[in-house]
Amino acid sequence: MLLELRNVVAGYDGGDVLKGVNLPVLEGSITCIVGPNGAGKSTVLRAVSGLLRPRVGEILFEGRNIAGMSPRHVLELGIAQVPQNHSLFNDMTVRENVRLGAFLLNDHAQVNRALAYVEDLFPIVRERAHDKAGSLSGGQQRLVEFARCLMLNPKLILLDEPSMGLDPRTLKAVFDTISVMHASGRTILLVEQNVKTGLGAASHGVVMESGRVRLIGTSGEILHHPEIGRLYLGGALAGA
Ligand SMILES: Nc1ncnc2c1ncn2[C@@H]1O[C@H](COP(=O)(O)OP(=O)(O)OP(=O)(O)O)[C@@H](O)[C@H]1O
Ligand SMILES: [Mg+2]
Repeated sequence: MLLELRNVVAGYDGGDVLKGVNLPVLEGSITCIVGPNGAGKSTVLRAVSGLLRPRVGEILFEGRNIAGMSPRHVLELGIAQVPQNHSLFNDMTVRENVRLGAFLLNDHAQVNRALAYVEDLFPIVRERAHDKAGSLSGGQQRLVEFARCLMLNPKLILLDEPSMGLDPRTLKAVFDTISVMHASGRTILLVEQNVKTGLGAASHGVVMESGRVRLIGTSGEILHHPEIGRLYLGGALAGA
């Protein structure tokens, strides 16, 4: 197990959103969290990445409790997050944006090695290196965000709704890229509204509802669970 949430209770001023979340993420998996709006999916990612301090519970990463650590410390330990909303600086070039992902590194040579690595993995980063990030399409910007998050060579990558706002063709390109990141040896924890695409790309699935985990299994078990479409996903799987 690479990451494990144990009885995590966390929320905002309005009260607890996560009401005792238990969630395992196996090393080498692509684990996809699905569930209705407001279920607490993004809040789980925020608790893991250090943006939100849990009130109760433990978040174990490689056996070490990271609950309440600063985002910077969590990043140093090897967990990178790509946020739900577009996060590139439009007026900076693609390469400048990607370099920002290495802000924790002081060694210039190390930064250049990391840049060469992500450019080999994602050719668009090299091809469009000197273009302004704002001139890229939504899907291309997503790929650059992925490239940026790889600059510190994370073990675990957190993705919040990578399919948001993308047309079907771009969606496929983005998920192909997630496969590339996974094949390069990383564990992926993602949140997806697009249940078929998310679970279809994942090895494991987690269904959340009202701040709790309702179901855990392989992605196939979750996709084919008789109750899923009807109870939790608003019939999204009906006819799938
Ligand atoms: N910054 C915040 N301050 C206060 N309440 C928040 C904040 N962010 C989220 N919430 C509340 O927490 C609950 C869970 O939100 P969260 O964003 O984790 O849900 P989600 O499952 O990711 O939903 P969605 O599918 O809409 O992205 C919601 O009721 C939401 O209104
Ligand atoms: Mg969300």
